[in-house]
Amino acid sequence: MADIVPLCRPSIGDEEIAAVAETLRSGWMAHGAWNHKFEDAFCRYLGVPYAISMNSCTSALEAALAVAGIRGEVVVPSMTFVATANSVAITGGTPVFCEVDEATRNMTAATIAERLTSRTEAVIVVHFGGQPCAMDEIVELCQRRGLFLIEDSAETLGATWKGTQAGAFAVGCFSFFPTKNITTGEGGMLTCKDEVFANNIRAFAAHGVFSTTFQREKATRPWLRAAEIPGHNFRMPNPLAAIGYHQMGRLDEFNRRRQVLAARYDELLGQLPDLAIPVVAEGASHVYQMYTVTVPEQARDRIVNAMRADGIGASVHFDPPVHLQPCYLKRGGHKGQLPVTERLAASLITLPMYPDMTDEQQGLVVDSLRRAINGF
Ligand SMILES: Cc1ncc(COP(=O)(O)O)c(C=O)c1O
Repeated sequence: MADIVPLCRPSIGDEEIAAVAETLRSGWMAHGAWNHKFEDAFCRYLGVPYAISMNSCTSALEAALAVAGIRGEVVVPSMTFVATANSVAITGGTPVFCEVDEATRNMTAATIAERLTSRTEAVIVVHFGGQPCAMDEIVELCQRRGLFLIEDSAETLGATWKGTQAGAFAVGCFSFFPTKNITTGEGGMLTCKDEVFANNIRAFAAHGVFSTTFQREKATRPWLRAAEIPGHNFRMPNPLAAIGYHQMGRLDEFNRRRQVLAARYDELLGQLPDLAIPVVAEGASHVYQMYTVTVPEQARDRIVNAMRADGIGASVHFDPPVHLQPCYLKRGGHKGQLPVTERLAASLITLPMYPDMTDEQQGLVVDSLRRAINGF
């Protein structure tokens, strides 16, 4: 059935459309001037010195691990999209799955510490669905143990932990897939504080060449492309960066609307029996890339399917959790390994959430959910 209320929908305005038209007319379709504008805007927003635009968050994660030379164990949550763990496996490391806190769905210093061994080289924290992890304790743990720290902030752009932006504590990796807080269609950004690391990332994402096509155009010998390291092509095209730049200008407006919708969901759903609304940790702000509730496991699938039959794009993130994905079952993942994560994966429902959702649409979601819960 066609969705009456989709799970999510990007908000693309006239400015984005005009900017893309301009880049198409200009003929500059690969990495170009808009990438620099987007990256500068991102740096200003996050309060970080370096931002490198890429073709996805997955590329940003792989670039971070490869450039840091991580080949050992990397602690990652299983309560995430499979890309987090894949980035480790693809770059030659071993993902080691840790638990999350049941209320916030986020990993903590304590759940990471349980999985550290003498072979651990890095930690990738995932800020789940718009809420940052408790970063001060995690940063302290990683510093004390000499671990490289990456923030998979694909789902969290614009939220803070004790006043600092998610992704600004360590090496940040962001996604601009259409379900995220801003979108470029496909796209990603890596942020960091170290200049040498930033330069290496830029080169790794562009065939190992340290200058960009855009910079070379202004050089005396623009044809000179010196590949200093073996690299990928992870670059974001100029027209997508133009979309990203304009989306960035609307990020706060988008997130405020998400927060208003979340507060209304909290109010309308808070009293329902057998349903738990999301918990925001003290110290965190939440930008609700997803609004997730939990219901009894035995009723979850029936409730989601009943809502979908009503044309409501309810969904589940993430079932199966990553350690139970076929490729990680083959690498030793097994049921019972992570009881909290497995319980969440079986009981969680993701409700429609996007800035352009009307109050009326939200009412339809709530009515459908109420009917489904009463019917189980
Ligand atoms: C936590 C997390 N990490 C990584 C990704 C991958 O992002 P992308 O699709 O930009 O590669 C996603 C998104 O879908 C995600 O939710």
